[in-house]
Amino acid sequence: MTQTRFFSDCTLASMKKGVPDYGLVSDAAFAVRNGRIIWAGELAHRPPETRHATAERLGGRLVTPALIDCHTHLVFGGNRAREFEQRLRGASYEEIARSGGGIVSTVTATRTATFDALVEQSLRRLDALLREGVAVVEIKSGYGLTIEDEMRMLRVARHLETLRPVKIMTTWLAAHAIPVEYAGRPDAYIDEIAVPGLGQAAAEGLVDAVDGFCENIAFTPAQIERVFKAASSLGLPVKLHAEQLSDQKGALLAARYSALSADHLEYLADTDVEAFAAAGTVAVLLPGAFYTLKETRLPPIDALRHHGVDIAIATDCNPGSSPISSILTAMNMACTEFTLTPEEALAGATRCAARALGLAGEYGEIAVGARAELAVWDAGHPSELSYWMGGSPLYKRLSHGIST
Ligand code: NIG
Ligand code: FE
Repeated sequence: MTQTRFFSDCTLASMKKGVPDYGLVSDAAFAVRNGRIIWAGELAHRPPETRHATAERLGGRLVTPALIDCHTHLVFGGNRAREFEQRLRGASYEEIARSGGGIVSTVTATRTATFDALVEQSLRRLDALLREGVAVVEIKSGYGLTIEDEMRMLRVARHLETLRPVKIMTTWLAAHAIPVEYAGRPDAYIDEIAVPGLGQAAAEGLVDAVDGFCENIAFTPAQIERVFKAASSLGLPVKLHAEQLSDQKGALLAARYSALSADHLEYLADTDVEAFAAAGTVAVLLPGAFYTLKETRLPPIDALRHHGVDIAIATDCNPGSSPISSILTAMNMACTEFTLTPEEALAGATRCAARALGLAGEYGEIAVGARAELAVWDAGHPSELSYWMGGSPLYKRLSHGIST
């Protein structure tokens, strides 16, 4: 597409870093060429070279960068509604995991599902996100736990991108849980599956980033570090599920490897935030898991703010701790549970989420040169995006500057 397209009669929330009040511009317009934003601003300042472009009026609607869900486990088989019942009767997430339920039960359901069945189930969750203006979704492996089953999950994830107008970022999360065949032998699992499988998956082009679950019910920092070393030798960025249920100092390990993000962080010590901040690692907060697990300990939000750490928000869509396929609900929860402002929540699902995926400057901001991945909302002000619960105020999405 070499033609310039021009959009007017809208309010823009650019979400550019350092620009106050959402970067709001009223009586705004923008121009798109070759799938990129070439100009955005007040209509009155429209550059002369856009005068002959095809124009579309947006009826006074709000335009934001398309949303980004930067942490999901969206590809999985079955569900864990029965476990939800058990938890409501008093069993804890950790107890269920230790008694063979939890992640390991989803592993069985994922291994036995056909490729097509995984695609079909995952598409339902993906479509729910797309209906809320999402254009980029990160999807992790972690329910296969053999080399072949982990790779198959990422092939499903990649396949979704061929079926819908969405960018999928794939993450190798073999170090998610210890499968029954390796019970009591986590080191062997790391050395025989998580590390060599990463090399194979990367060779097939299936890996954008590498993740692990650093927790007392999963892997130690030393075990995760072996996976991180393998990632570094392949030139792949890392991220980490850190300090979700206890303080394992995983975030500090992530920082030492210049991780793109450390995620969850309820048990991150205030005193560790400075070292974490120095690495430029994004804090990905997952209020859906906090809510579902009835967690009471909050991530150190004030310390993160104080040290200027970028905070992203994601659904953590997964069958156990966060059965949520709604980024707008996650934003709402981030405000109500984590005291984020609606502006911080929107930055968390746009600009900061892009950084958590290594996509800064390309996605998550309305800026000259960025991709024209935008969401047009039936909303008067961007605070509404975190305010409503249920229903989506999305009017339409623009992908490569074209309506989807
Ligand atoms: O992000 N923490 C580990 N992984 C997921 C939970 C996965 C599951 O319970 O199936 C999470 O919360
Ligand atoms: Fe997760």
